Parts: sequence; structure tokens; C-alpha cells
Amino acid sequence: MPYQPTVNQKRKDIEKLSSDGLRLAYASEASINPGLSVASIPPSIPALLQETEEQQGELIYMSVSQYQGILQGFFVGLLRAKRVLEIGTFTGSSAIFFANALKRNGVKGQDDANGNAPMIALELSEEYAKIARKNFVRAEVDIFIDVRVGDARENLTKLAGQKFEIVFIDADKNSYKHYYDTVIEMELLAENGLIIIDNTAFDWVTPYIRAPVPITKDVKPLDVPFSRPQWTREQGKVLHEFNEYVRNDPRTEVVMLPMFTGITLVRLV
Ligand SMILES: C[S@@+](CC[C@H](N)C(=O)[O-])C[C@H]1O[C@@H](n2cnc3c(N)ncnc32)[C@H](O)[C@@H]1O
Repeated sequence: MPYQPTVNQKRKDIEKLSSDGLRLAYASEASINPGLSVASIPPSIPALLQETEEQQGELIYMSVSQYQGILQGFFVGLLRAKRVLEIGTFTGSSAIFFANALKRNGVKGQDDANGNAPMIALELSEEYAKIARKNFVRAEVDIFIDVRVGDARENLTKLAGQKFEIVFIDADKNSYKHYYDTVIEMELLAENGLIIIDNTAFDWVTPYIRAPVPITKDVKPLDVPFSRPQWTREQGKVLHEFNEYVRNDPRTEVVMLPMFTGITLVRLV
């Protein structure tokens, strides 16, 4: 059952938001075109996010927000994408936005002549994959998405010869460079394709902004607090080095959107 707040509940929800939150909520709602045959926010998403929060607690931060999902769906439309590869699926929210947008592009939920689904989702955890599959059924996109369980580093190698207009990298941050290089070296990106990389300006990175690369042990982090104390500086270092690697890569053109927790957009040149 989708989350359908009463007017009073909606007011209470809004009162809880900060001004940034309000702007985001407004922008998100103002982006939805009800005239589209499949709404920009897939109807099952609010319930999925609520359930993820109930079942996974604070790990809900891993799910893309509705607004980010809308933006990523927009790219699917812009590129007239027919295929999407996702690395890191969790309970399935970003994948549902992608698959929904593929539907709007007229993609049929069936495998191609080589037996490949329109969307491939790589997820390490059997438990999350199971939840995601259940959520795909509810969102009526299960026949669009082939969830492959296991280490994405391994599963990526099985995609040789396939092409995707969009590759979304959202798994373990330590492997971002590996995923990025592998996607480019295996030529998984279709012509004019887009790599979207999530969390590239996450809190973990902030202490390293303006630090030299490679980062030496004596670098003093900026006096910027983490919003989640359990996150480690090591993760920030890895992400910062990844960002430096990407922006100095002559194979690609890159722009980071300082929105959400940072999204990097990459195209081949
Ligand atoms: C940030 S979450 C993904 C969120 C998801 N894209 C969404 O918006 O709902 C990262 C996911 O990557 C998965 N992951 C971590 N390491 C992985 C690996 N080596 N291979 C595949 N998936 C991995 C985690 O289990 C987790 O579900």
C-alpha cells in the first residue's frame, strides 16, 4: 500500500523538514508531470522507502532519494536509453526509477536475442537482492531487471560484449576506481553513454578537500565534522583519490553535481 498521507499528516511531515528539505521536497514535487503515462515517481516508491527505513533502520541513507531518482530517470529519457547497468542495488529504489524510465522509452520488459534483460543489477547481498526482487514485482518492473548476486567485481567480467547507455555506480566505495576503469576498458558504455557515480561528495570526502594527492599521513584534515561519526577518514581518502583520478582522466569528461551526496557524471571523449 503506497504511503498516502492525510492532509494533516502531510502538514506534520512538512513541519519536520529543514528549509533545505523543504526546497528539495518542493523541487521533487514540481518535477512530476502527471501527464506522463508512467509517473516520474513510481507509485510503489514511497512505501518501499518507508519499509526500507522500518526494516533496515539508518541504512535507509543508502537508498537514492525520490528527487535523485527523478533526475536519474530524466537521464534515461534524455539519452533514449534502452539498457541500464546498476552496480549496488540494496532494496531496489534506484533500479525501479531506472526501469520505470526505460518503460517510458518504450522498452519492453523482455530479454533481447542474446537473452539479456534491459537492466542488469549487481548486488553482493543475497538478503538485499531478495528484498529488491520482491520490490520489483510490486513496482511491476521485475521482467525488466536481472538481479545478479555476488561481488560486482566478479560479475562485471561476465558482461563482456554488452552495451549500456547508462551505468550507475553505487556499491562499495573502495572499488569505485575498479568499476569505473572496468566499465571503460570492457567498453560496456554505449556510444554517447553516461556513467553516473553516487556519493562522490559525501561527508567522508570533506576532510580531504584541498588536500594534495597522493594524500600523505601528515595532512591535516579541514575542520569539518562528519555528520555520521562512524564513517571513516579512510573512506574519504579513497573517494577523494577517486575524484582526482577521474577528473585527470584524459579518456573522459566529467562534472560533479554538488547535490544530494554528490553525483559525478562521466562521458567518454
Ligand atoms: C548505497 S547501496 C545501493 C543503493 C541503491 N542503489 C538504492 O538507491 O537503493 C550499496 C549497495 O552495494 C552493495 N555492495 C557492496 N559491495 C558490493 C560488491 N562488491 N558487489 C556488489 N554489490 C556490493 C551493498 O550490499 C549495498 O546494497
